[in-house]
Amino acid sequence: MKNLERIRDIMAHHSFDGLAIVPGPNMEYLTGSKFHLSERPVVLFIEKGNSTFILPELESPKISDLGFDYITYNDEEGYELGFSKFNHKIEKMGVESRLIRHIELDIISAKDISTNIHDATDIFATLRMPKSSTELELMAEAVSIAEMSIISILDKIKPGVTEKEFASELVIQLLRNGSLSELPFSPIVASGVNAANPHHYPGDKEFKEDELIIIDWGANYKGYFSDITRTFAIGKNIDSKLLEAYDAVKLANESARNVAKVGVKAEDVDSAARKIIEDAGFGKYFTHRTGHGLGLEIHEEPYIKPDSSFILEKGMTFTIEPGIYIPDLGGIRIEDDVYLSDSDSRSLTSLPRSLQYI
Ligand code: CO
Ligand code: CO
Repeated sequence: MKNLERIRDIMAHHSFDGLAIVPGPNMEYLTGSKFHLSERPVVLFIEKGNSTFILPELESPKISDLGFDYITYNDEEGYELGFSKFNHKIEKMGVESRLIRHIELDIISAKDISTNIHDATDIFATLRMPKSSTELELMAEAVSIAEMSIISILDKIKPGVTEKEFASELVIQLLRNGSLSELPFSPIVASGVNAANPHHYPGDKEFKEDELIIIDWGANYKGYFSDITRTFAIGKNIDSKLLEAYDAVKLANESARNVAKVGVKAEDVDSAARKIIEDAGFGKYFTHRTGHGLGLEIHEEPYIKPDSSFILEKGMTFTIEPGIYIPDLGGIRIEDDVYLSDSDSRSLTSLPRSLQYI
């Protein structure tokens, strides 16, 4: 229940009277239980003095031992009745604006639980950004599963193998090595000119001699994610412009990791990477932010991006993933998962960053 005390403190600090939390990472974080958004609404109301679940009767075994008050409803009476039994009035209420749906907002106002509803994304970000040592261990395991998985199939990076074939092998290895089947995202495998698109979906293109291949993949260990990218070379005659770009990306990744420290602004980490790529003449080909927070979600706060004066703190975990994407030629990305210790940033990722020729 320590996390419940923390969220009440943060809530008070932001002068909210209550929060309405729906199934997703915040509910999972606060209860240790996983629920899905479905046609039967589940809402956890957190107020200063109490916390109450409203949920379908069939879901109640998940929470009966957790110490929350709860109100259940069955299919016959419908969820409206469950929400009617919750006769609290929450003056200023916070919600997860990217998650909560019309069905929940509608019943909350219809039953007059709150009519003064605000986005509370910052509250949840403040709650979940600093990772505990247990969370860091789970993330380190998610990284280790992802690394083991690719190492076991490096010999499949060879001419004639298609992007899709490689992606499917990678998924098999991730599951075999201990990832939950709900992967953080399906692996990106982008070869040759396809690597010029940072979010390319693996297709039927075969790997060819003398091209670069971007592979971006991750594992899910007990709900915590890893997110790694490495760029591989097949053959020895890689285009010299791509090799130059590779060196810039590698240096940018290193520079951003060195700058990332407790007390540093997110924009300064971003510009550490961006400046190196700009100075090497590839600035216009680095088309995305340098990184994003990582944990129970694949993209969460803090975002490592230009013009963010957000100050990084101890225990925060995020990616460092500079890239260069040159249309009609190819691309490079090197993505590590890091956390901030007292003194510096530590990489959870341990795969080599120099170009691996297969
Ligand atoms: Co990635
Ligand atoms: Co990423």
